[in-house]
Amino acid sequence: MTPAPGPALVMGAGAIGCWVGGRLQAAGAPVHFVGRPSVLEELRLRGLTLTDLDGRRTHLPPDALALHAEVPERLAPALVLLCVKSGATAEAAALLGLRLPAGTPVLSLQNGIGNPAVAAAAAPGLAVIPGMVGFNVVRASPGHWHRGTWGELAAQAHLALQPWLPLFAAAGLALAQHADLRPVQWGKLLLNLNNPVNALSGLPLKRQLLDRDLRIVMAALIEEALAALAVHGIEPAQLATLPPRHMPRGLRLPTWLFRIAARRSLRMDDQARTSMSEDVARGRPTEIDALCGEVVRLAHAAGLRAPRNEWMLERLGRPAPGRMTGREMRAALGL
Ligand SMILES: NC(=O)c1ccc[n+]([C@@H]2O[C@H](COP(=O)([O-])OP(=O)(O)OC[C@H]3O[C@@H](n4cnc5c(N)ncnc54)[C@H](OP(=O)(O)O)[C@@H]3O)[C@@H](O)[C@H]2O)c1
Repeated sequence: MTPAPGPALVMGAGAIGCWVGGRLQAAGAPVHFVGRPSVLEELRLRGLTLTDLDGRRTHLPPDALALHAEVPERLAPALVLLCVKSGATAEAAALLGLRLPAGTPVLSLQNGIGNPAVAAAAAPGLAVIPGMVGFNVVRASPGHWHRGTWGELAAQAHLALQPWLPLFAAAGLALAQHADLRPVQWGKLLLNLNNPVNALSGLPLKRQLLDRDLRIVMAALIEEALAALAVHGIEPAQLATLPPRHMPRGLRLPTWLFRIAARRSLRMDDQARTSMSEDVARGRPTEIDALCGEVVRLAHAAGLRAPRNEWMLERLGRPAPGRMTGREMRAALGL
């Protein structure tokens, strides 16, 4: 057990919140989970089980879990993990701001670029720190979350994170600190442009990545983002096998060659899916605005257009976007 600098609070007990919070607790941190009643009920009945693609299993029994339907009063967490989807950021941050002492560090473990700014505007008294989750977690069954891919955790360097680093490392979640997280956030966003493709395809991630038509669609989305980033002078960080500027060419390779070139990135469970695909399956709103929406806004600010990202933004913004094959997507996007 590694000593913790104080209690941690997970705001949004879902895939990322339960995974990261659960692993920190297993490593020795007292963790409080704030979540929806349905999720809390599962955890109260079954405890929290975490598995990963290497077959590692962690179980926290029900009586070991501190579960809350609301941000607890009189708790002074040494770190908050903000783990809600983008559409819930403002409300969740405002609730934290009402209950937590001024200056409480809040690490945003969310996709996209704009969530930390949204949280900071909703809770100006808190110290919001941008973060990035480079791996994929899905709910496998009630009370059980499964990590299906590899990847790192990263954050904007901040003094408040310093005492937590040994705990993150002990939890198997080494937290890389960056003086400027923006290039990492954009590098991750480029990879996440696969999420709408995956969600519309309805396929598991690995099968979808091994479909060249679907990779061609992803390549086109990334190309539009790269053009806009270049105008703004933003150099996205490399988070995959290839540097970002070579990703479109790599994605368009014939599948047999892509299989070899991307073998490290393809190291994932056969059943891993993006959370956007799950959102579509459950009829929930997607985070498309935080992904393709960011690209469209960046392009427009540079006097460019990003028509394929605009198409995805409109399509995944619908309540029931449906499913499409790679060929159908290519035809719809003129590719
Ligand atoms: N899952 C992944 O593999 C993955 C990987 C990298 C990054 N991310 C990012 O991590 C963030 C979280 O994603 P996720 O997949 O963990 O989402 P998730 O499984 O939907 O978990 C979020 C949970 O927070 C709950 N919630 C929202 N507002 C709340 C509030 N005010 N009080 C209590 N609970 C609240 C949600 O309930 P409702 O559904 O009712 O709102 C949901 O149960 C997103 O930005 C996502 O893009 C996810």
